[in-house]
Amino acid sequence: MKIQMLKPLVAACALGAAALWAGYAISQTPAATAPAAPTASAPAAAPVRYVQAPLPYASDALEPIIDKMTMELHHGRHHKAQYDALNAIAATNPEVAKMSVEELLANTAKFPPGVRNNAGGVWNHDFFWATMAPADKRGAPSTALLLRIVADFGGVEAMKTQFNTAGATRFGSGWAWLVVRDKKLVITSTPNQDNPLMDIAETKGAPILGNDVWEHAYYLKYNNRRGEYLTKWWDVVNWNEVNKRFDAAMK
Ligand SMILES: [Fe+2]
Repeated sequence: MKIQMLKPLVAACALGAAALWAGYAISQTPAATAPAAPTASAPAAAPVRYVQAPLPYASDALEPIIDKMTMELHHGRHHKAQYDALNAIAATNPEVAKMSVEELLANTAKFPPGVRNNAGGVWNHDFFWATMAPADKRGAPSTALLLRIVADFGGVEAMKTQFNTAGATRFGSGWAWLVVRDKKLVITSTPNQDNPLMDIAETKGAPILGNDVWEHAYYLKYNNRRGEYLTKWWDVVNWNEVNKRFDAAMK
């Protein structure tokens, strides 16, 4: 019998011996009643507060720009781990558990760093999956969005160049963002899993487009060539979704 199989048996024997000894000792006292039988019921599992949605498309739908394995690891391991960690925090912190992810982002300063990192990761990746789409669902920038891009950056290519520079120069891990602030478009980047919705963000605003520049987002296919990933990523942007976000942010 393997050691792993023996461990529960040994533990059970030890528990039984301890219970017998306790019962014997108590039985020597005339007024004592029989000890309650030990219960082996496991503690109830904490309810899952935050639920990760499946990818909104097949994991190979963004090939060849983003490969299937990267998408599966990114969504199924990295993003899932952030959901799991945030749920673990919520299970022991009622103040966290009563808030939506968006409310947590607006209140990161009052919570331990785990909330900032994992609520950020949860929200950023949900936003990121929807920022991309298969070829037949990507659309194009709306006229309203194009006019705003021209007004604030001079043109689409200039906007992309500034965005890519923000992503390429973000030291370590983080995100590049296109946000609406005071009815204008602004480009910024954040470290780790921070985002422009957070109370602690240097540049606040309503994100309408964001790219993940953590190595886990591109390293399998692009290795250390973050700049190449940033450039090619534009080919999978879901402009239909970006247009909707832009319209909502400009109201
Ligand atoms: Fe990521």
